[in-house]
Parts: sequence; C-alpha cells; structure tokens
Amino acid sequence: MNLILLGPPGAGKGTQAKRLEERFGLVQISTGDMLRAEVKSGSAIGLEAKAIMERGELIPDSVITAMLAARVEQPDAARGFILDGFPRTTPQAEALDVMLAGKGLVLDHVIELQVDDAKMVERISGRYTCAKCGEGYHDTFKQPKTAGVCDVCGGTEFTRRADDKAETVGARLAAYHRQTAPLLPYYEAQNKLRSVDGMAEMSAVTSDLERILTSGA
Ligand code: AP5
Repeated sequence: MNLILLGPPGAGKGTQAKRLEERFGLVQISTGDMLRAEVKSGSAIGLEAKAIMERGELIPDSVITAMLAARVEQPDAARGFILDGFPRTTPQAEALDVMLAGKGLVLDHVIELQVDDAKMVERISGRYTCAKCGEGYHDTFKQPKTAGVCDVCGGTEFTRRADDKAETVGARLAAYHRQTAPLLPYYEAQNKLRSVDGMAEMSAVTSDLERILTSGA
C-alpha cells in the first residue's frame, strides 16, 4: 500500500505517519526529514536548502523530485510507503505519477488532514524532539511522562526546528495555500482524495486514518 498524507505545516502528518508505519508495516518517507539530514551533513543540497527552509519557502521541484526518486528505490520502500511532505506542488505530483507508473506501482490513498490555520502556529511553535532518538513532543499536547526525560530512549537533550519560529510558520502556511492546496482538486479528479478532521485528538485522527486504510471508507 502506498499513500500520501497531505496537509499544512503542523497538521500532524509526521505524527500520524509514524503511527501508521507501525500499524501497517509501511515506511514513512518525509522529504522534510531528508532535507534536514542534508542540512546537518553539510552536503551541497543541504547548503542550498538551509536558507530556503528558514524562509519557509519550497525547495526547487527538480531537486526534491530527484531526492524522492532515489529514496523510493531503496529496498525498505518496497513494502509500501507513506509520503509525508511530498508532493507539494503540481509538477511534483505529476512527476510522482510518472515515477510510480514507471515502477508499476499505484497510489492507493491520498488523505488530507483538515486543520484550522489559526491554531497551527501554537501547534508548531510548541513542538520539540528528543535530540537522541527523534521522538516528538509538544509543550501542551504531548509532554514526556517525566519532565525533561524522553519516554522512548531516556535522552535528556531536546531540539526545536529552525523553521518553527512564528514568523516562518506564517510563510510556510502561505506556501501551502499557494502551492500545495491545488493538489486537493488534482487528487479529487483521480478519485483518490479522502479527508479527516486533523483538529481531533491524536488517537481519534489515527482511528479515522486506520478506518480509511482498512476499509477504504
Ligand atoms: P516538513 O518537514 O515537511 O514540514 P511541514 O510540512 O511544514 O510539516 P510539519 O513537519 O511542520 O508538520 P506535520 O504536519 O508533520 O505535523 P506534526 O506531526 O509534526 O517541511 C519543512 C520544509 O522543508 C518546508 O517548509 C520546505 O522548505 C522543505 N520541503 C519539504 N518537503 C518539500 C517538498 N516536497 N518540496 C519543496 N520543499 C520541501 O505535528 C505538529 C505538532 O502538533 C507536534 O508537536 C504534534 O505533537 C502536535 N500534534 C499533531 N497532531 C495533533 C493533534 N491531533 N492534536 C494536538 N496536537 C497535535
């Protein structure tokens, strides 16, 4: 099974992708995580991407599409994948269609997480992750069981993303509405689009997604 999670910054794509990964044996492919790894490694792509990401703008389609194509070739993607953060523009969606057709693969579901933009700044600016294992937390919505200690690995160092400042979040939301929202009618025309309420409690969102993936409803 191959699917796309669509939604603006902070909609919960990463949170839900991790849960579906475990439940359905799929692999999460997050272009944002891939780009952050490139920035950290200081690669040529990372150097190009860093400033663009910090402005809340999108990386050029050619760069990101080549990166995604290489990732989909990796053996773990053969068991099925959840695209988190890709595609983000119509040219990326068209390139994905060609790429999948060339591999004899199909896109089973495109699921939009519908959220209230006004609440996204709070969600995003409260987010932090364990520096050791990457487990995600939130100042209000998901705190570690013991303050300052990661539930998963016991790590005590946490990081916040450079693009999670309130002013950058505004630019990211604007980019979503201008460049990514046109993908909703694109996938509706392919009869693949389903929507869930991304403002619901995290477990309720997971249940809605699981229902779509198991029954198609
Ligand atoms: P990317 O990393 O993809 O970021 P994003 O799309 O802006 O999405 P986020 O990771 O911010 O949010 P999310 O929806 O995953 O929410 P999360 O689960 O973390 O992209 C970053 C940048 O990379 C882009 O701006 C661009 O520059 C570049 N880029 C990436 N892909 C690209 C592409 N294809 N083309 C061009 N450029 C690209 O949840 C957020 C917080 O809310 C968490 O703290 C979580 O705990 C909490 N939360 C989640 N769900 C709920 C809930 N139901 N209730 C309460 N809290 C919740």
